[in-house]
Amino acid sequence: MDTPWFTVRNVDEVPSPALLFYPDRIEENVRRMLALVGNPARLRPHMKTHKVAEVIRLQLHLGVTKFKCATIAETEMVADCGAPDIVLAYQPVGPNVQRLLTLVRKFPQTIFAAIADDADAIRALGAAFAAAGLTLNLFLDVDSGMHRTGVAPGDHAVDLYKLIAHTAGLKPAGLHAYDGHNHETDLAVRTAMCEANLAPVVALRRQLTGLGLAVPKILAGGTPTFPLYAKSPEVAECSPGTCVLWDFGYERMLPDMKFLVAAVVLTRVISKPGTNRLCLDLGHKAIAAENPHPRVFFPQLPDATAVMHSEEHLVVETPRAGEFAVGDCLYGIPRHICPTVALHSEVVVVRDGMAGERWKVLARARQLTV
Ligand SMILES: Cc1ncc(COP(=O)(O)O)c(C=O)c1O
Repeated sequence: MDTPWFTVRNVDEVPSPALLFYPDRIEENVRRMLALVGNPARLRPHMKTHKVAEVIRLQLHLGVTKFKCATIAETEMVADCGAPDIVLAYQPVGPNVQRLLTLVRKFPQTIFAAIADDADAIRALGAAFAAAGLTLNLFLDVDSGMHRTGVAPGDHAVDLYKLIAHTAGLKPAGLHAYDGHNHETDLAVRTAMCEANLAPVVALRRQLTGLGLAVPKILAGGTPTFPLYAKSPEVAECSPGTCVLWDFGYERMLPDMKFLVAAVVLTRVISKPGTNRLCLDLGHKAIAAENPHPRVFFPQLPDATAVMHSEEHLVVETPRAGEFAVGDCLYGIPRHICPTVALHSEVVVVRDGMAGERWKVLARARQLTV
């Protein structure tokens, strides 16, 4: 039988649980992302999926110049890598206003933008940046159906956009619309929903430009709608995150998308508490647990069923338990890679089947220097 691609020949040198990154596959995913948009200027990958400086540098090397972040720490890490253009896709409030200002001062070569959907937050950002003699590019965050953040297209959205345009210290950057609720598996259904969600955003832009306001761009979407926005003349920039590492959640949900799993967890059998049971060192401190089981898929043991999950233990049942001894390794594909990454302080880099260097998951910290 062929050796599976994720096999680590020197696995005896790697303590478990561990998160393994495969740079060749990451690189291939970035190339596929670039091929989908056709022009690197249209790609703004969300880096919250990996939170690793080495991956940012790899993307920069491949021609990516724009990045999306969710936290000030992520934004700092990306700026520190020399990224030219960063959007903090999170409304800065409280002390984060000053932290963003500090970043803008600290990295004058980088163009920063943020998003906002609240009049007081917009005024506070404007006041802070104007007082510092600086200008912040600010997107209006538009609710395109997810109902998580953003303002619905309509009169209030127009008022908020006008406020951005007329507040000293701010410059309107355009519209931000994230449709993380569109998880339709059927491509035709996903496409119809995507078009229906985008239409009011495009209408809002028309309304704003009709009033003489500058709306430089629409920045939209995550992975499920990425190929759709990539083809849309209305969307200037696409912001998928997960497809850089891929996971089995999206693999199952989005059969039309061809990305490679580039991150795998390594776990070992630590106990055999019954003839059909294996206990693995893959508790919910090592693999994301916000979803129901299966939270991980074992390609070598596809029929394994999770029966118990605690902080440091995952118990699975399988009729093949007898084939495994305590100490044996299993490789698992996470259902949701982004929060899994955030559970690990470093990842083990696997090249040509050999585990080598470690990369720090720097931006899992809430605060770096700022
Ligand atoms: C605002 C925003 N943009 C983009 C993304 C990337 O989406 P995905 O994980 O589907 O690639 C996310 C993911 O949570 C997000 O919150």
